[in-house]
Amino acid sequence: MLPSASTLLAPRMFWVLLFAAFRSAQSGISDNPKCTKGVVSVSRGKPATMSCSISNAFSHINISLKADTKAPWKLICSAKPPGNVCQDGWELWIWEGEAYLVTEEAQDTQAGQYKWRLMGRQGNTRTTTLTVVEHEEEPV
Ligand SMILES: *[C@@H]1O[C@H](CO)[C@@H](O)[C@H](O)[C@H]1NC(C)=O
Repeated sequence: MLPSASTLLAPRMFWVLLFAAFRSAQSGISDNPKCTKGVVSVSRGKPATMSCSISNAFSHINISLKADTKAPWKLICSAKPPGNVCQDGWELWIWEGEAYLVTEEAQDTQAGQYKWRLMGRQGNTRTTTLTVVEHEEEPV
């Protein structure tokens, strides 16, 4: 007879639960931010999203945009949960430890470096670059 699924799963479940307990104990300490990495490339006129998440809840997020290397940082978003409408066609949605910066139609003016100032239990800063490219026609 085959061993039942529950006997097979039991040892694995133990480790999963132990890991989950370890993670939640850790999350009480560190925000451990994870953000959209590197360069995000979107087609002009198409929706774009960037996101950041932390292991705790967000209390405040500021996002600044640097359109090119010589331009100064411009604050486009300063929001608390559940988020806000931001400048330059962006909206920031915040839920617990997750935050999404979304735009319906990406424009050239939205391209540049995005600096996220994340306030949770600690303060952290993360940067993501957005490039807006010519929309390629779908093959018919
Ligand atoms: C966010 O920006 C506001 C307005 O400039 C500033 O008062 C606040 O200290 C900033 N918060 C963070 C976490 O950088």
